[in-house]
Amino acid sequence: MRLIFLGPPGVGKGTQAQLLCKKYGIPQISTGAMYRQAIKNQTTPGKQAEALMKQGKLMPDFITLGLVKERLQKSDCKNGYLLDGFPRTIPQAEGFDKLLQEMHQKLDAVISISVDEAVLIKRLSGRRSCPKCGAVYHADIHPFSKKGLCDKCHEKLVQREDDKHETIKKRMDVYLTQTVPLLDYYKKKKLLYEVDGDQEIEKVFNSILNLLEK
Ligand code: AP5
Ligand code: MG
Repeated sequence: MRLIFLGPPGVGKGTQAQLLCKKYGIPQISTGAMYRQAIKNQTTPGKQAEALMKQGKLMPDFITLGLVKERLQKSDCKNGYLLDGFPRTIPQAEGFDKLLQEMHQKLDAVISISVDEAVLIKRLSGRRSCPKCGAVYHADIHPFSKKGLCDKCHEKLVQREDDKHETIKKRMDVYLTQTVPLLDYYKKKKLLYEVDGDQEIEKVFNSILNLLEK
């Protein structure tokens, strides 16, 4: 199964990707997580990502496409993958189409998750994540222990640099102007499926499964 998750910041792409990847035994490929790792390692793209992510801006398309191309050659992608947060511009989608052709692969579905902006802001301001295993929590909705440790690996949870109010606003604008055109792009290819993300995590998951297993 080869899938794309589309949606604004905080809609639950990462949360749902972890559940779906576990169920189907495919890797979750999050370009955001790859850039956060590059920042940690202070590589050249990492340094560029650090500056751009703080401003809520996207990394250049050719760097992101190169990163994804390299990742998709790994053996764990043989039986499929879930792209979480890629593509997010028309040039990225076109570049990815070329890549699929080169790899003789077909995309199965693009799942667009949506939620109202006020809900997204609340979700992002309360989000905490585990820097080690990537598990995602929320202060009210998906609570973590009083000590702020990950349930799974007991690492100290952190708040993302780009989850500050002004940066969240900028990320939303970028989504509306640069990523929303992809909805039409994939609708024309008859690959787009829409899911209401404003439901409990489990219910969103079941809606996605219903669409995929129809
Ligand atoms: P990225 O890491 O992809 O961030 P994003 O798209 O802004 O999305 P988020 O990860 O913030 O949200 P999410 O939808 O995964 O929500 P989550 O599941 O965590 O990208 C970050 C940056 O990297 C970009 O700004 C850019 O600079 C760069 N980048 C990445 N990809 C790029 C690309 N392709 N091209 C160029 N640059 C790129 O959930 C959020 C919170 O809500 C959590 O606390 C969670 O517990 C809670 N929650 C989830 N679901 C529910 C629910 N159903 N009900 C209640 N709460 C819920
Ligand atoms: Mg995410």
